[in-house]
Amino acid sequence: MRIIKTIGHLRKILNEFSRNGKRIGYIPTMGYFHEGHLRLVRHAKKECDICVVSIYVNPKQFSPAEDLSRYPRDIKRDSMMIEKENVDILFIPSDNIVYPNRYLTYIDVKEISGTLCGKYRPGHFKGVATVVAKLLNMVRPDVMYLGQKDAQQVVVLSRMVADLNFPVSIRVVATAREKDGLAMSSRNIYLSREDRCQAPVLFRALSDAAKRIQKGERSVSKIIAFIKKTITQDTSGKIQYVACVDANTLEPLKIFKGKALIALAVFFSRTRLIDNVIIPIKKTGKSQNY
Ligand code: PAJ
Repeated sequence: MRIIKTIGHLRKILNEFSRNGKRIGYIPTMGYFHEGHLRLVRHAKKECDICVVSIYVNPKQFSPAEDLSRYPRDIKRDSMMIEKENVDILFIPSDNIVYPNRYLTYIDVKEISGTLCGKYRPGHFKGVATVVAKLLNMVRPDVMYLGQKDAQQVVVLSRMVADLNFPVSIRVVATAREKDGLAMSSRNIYLSREDRCQAPVLFRALSDAAKRIQKGERSVSKIIAFIKKTITQDTSGKIQYVACVDANTLEPLKIFKGKALIALAVFFSRTRLIDNVIIPIKKTGKSQNY
């Protein structure tokens, strides 16, 4: 695995691969890898000739209230983990390469950046869209791999790629979970033992809600009330939001129809966890498996 720190070096190597008709798969990350990241890598390895991973903790997607310096980092461990997966290139640009002095340009994917998580993290998706646009221009992959875990990020980046004609296709990979259902996240290490025991309630609530919808429940308000009750009755989780929206447009739903996304954000002590499920709903009768 080659570890590359400059755009010039990256382009020199990747131009050669592109000239030889190699298909380039790319996984943008902020590091501190877990099984979820590795799943994206394995998909890229299977579907592409060359697999590029980047690690960059993007300051522009953290608000002043969120502690950028608290974000976990361990480049040595990360590079060992993906070397084992036979990743070809690890790109680790520094802040002054990504945002040189007098940096002025931002990408704002309107409307869909301001709902769900975006409502509580103003500027977050502007930061994500900006850095991913830049990274796509640096790497110029054929395919970018994203995790369903960050459902709104998938919708925002898909919109950006379509709106700005980025010549890349997006592959979305299912959420990797711990045995008890907790979605894997770099932030899980901050959970106390007690919070870690309680946190699987999120996926349990989402799964039970999905079952209710499969059995025919179509009222969004009832499903939201059910999820909130499931979370708060037995745990100390503090709900930031639970929302049922159209999975493609993120428009709020009143009744379940089409392809629904149920997304939530819940605090356990200071740690904010997110999770979601997508539920395709048949026009008549019951919904399919989610
Ligand atoms: P990061 O949180 O490091 O995530 C990198 C990629 O891994 C994202 O596409 C994310 O959705 C995916 N991922 C994280 N946990 C996952 C899980 N449990 N199962 C499946 N996929 C999972 O997301 C970011 O970084 C940043 O916002 C980034 C896109 C790199 C821009 O800075």
